[in-house]
Amino acid sequence: MSEKINAYINRYRKIVDEELVQHIESLPIPEQLKQSMLYSVEAGGKRLRPVLLIASFESFADEFNRALSSCIALELIHTYSLIHDDLPAMDDDDYRRGKPTNHKVFDEATAILAGDALLTYSFELIAQDPLLNNNQKVEIIKMLSATSGPKGMVAGQILDMEAETRQVKIEELENIHALKTGKLLEFAMSAGGYLGGASESQLQHLKQFAYYLGLIFQVQDDILDVTGDQEKLGKPVGSDENNHKSTYPKLLGLDGAMDKKKDYVEKAYLELENAGARSAVLKDLTHYFSNRDH
Ligand code: IPE
Ligand code: IPE
Ligand code: MG
Ligand code: MG
Ligand code: MG
Repeated sequence: MSEKINAYINRYRKIVDEELVQHIESLPIPEQLKQSMLYSVEAGGKRLRPVLLIASFESFADEFNRALSSCIALELIHTYSLIHDDLPAMDDDDYRRGKPTNHKVFDEATAILAGDALLTYSFELIAQDPLLNNNQKVEIIKMLSATSGPKGMVAGQILDMEAETRQVKIEELENIHALKTGKLLEFAMSAGGYLGGASESQLQHLKQFAYYLGLIFQVQDDILDVTGDQEKLGKPVGSDENNHKSTYPKLLGLDGAMDKKKDYVEKAYLELENAGARSAVLKDLTHYFSNRDH
């Protein structure tokens, strides 16, 4: 199983890597801004969100090219969120993707602006895609702004900060994680399914699946912040502890966090079955997300 899913991830990661760099390199923009944007984009993320989007698309249709601009836009937004997440005013981290964080290499103002630029350019990229019709462009932009914006990832980030230094209940923690991490995964599933032609009820199940996948992804992220290897992770371990974050291991202990993850995996599988996705890739990806070591 893991060989097959690794090959799948690698195949699409290469395509996404190339597209990302090409898009930014072609922009006629100030050199300092371009270098700062390229620095974080080229630092080499796992590209799991774009791969998930393609897997969702391919569960319903062939020829993933129509899904590619959504993949790139999603990864640009994810990368912006990481640049800002690492800033001194937020998690204050010095390493990301195995390299010094953007604000450590450039200055803080440049890092903030590079984030702004990645965010806004992602919408331009969808609006310009010749492979999408106008209805599809509006729908994708609507989904992307809703999941990344004040009702989505940004809401999760502020609730995450607000929950520092106080004990939260499990329901509150789930809500934070579903927003800060789950919402961008929801975009991956919804956009992929929508462009692939999934029905309204299938889309609802894909969204529910994304909810559990977000929790799985973030429980594992929290676990790795305690037990992970900084070399493999490419980011510091112990950041959550230093920032007094509310995390699964903090609330439930490591064993409790593992049990919770198992529970979410079962629920995610169930939603996949209900969605009637035609390939096993999404199930394999769930397993991968749940057991990743970086
Ligand atoms: C890190 O995401 C941020 C979280 C939402 C936990 P990833 O673990 O996907 O980071 P990259 O893109 O591979 O660097
Ligand atoms: C960040 O969550 C999620 C984002 C929206 C960027 P974390 O703060 O846990 O991510 P890491 O651990 O720094 O990658
Ligand atoms: Mg954070
Ligand atoms: Mg962080
Ligand atoms: Mg983390």
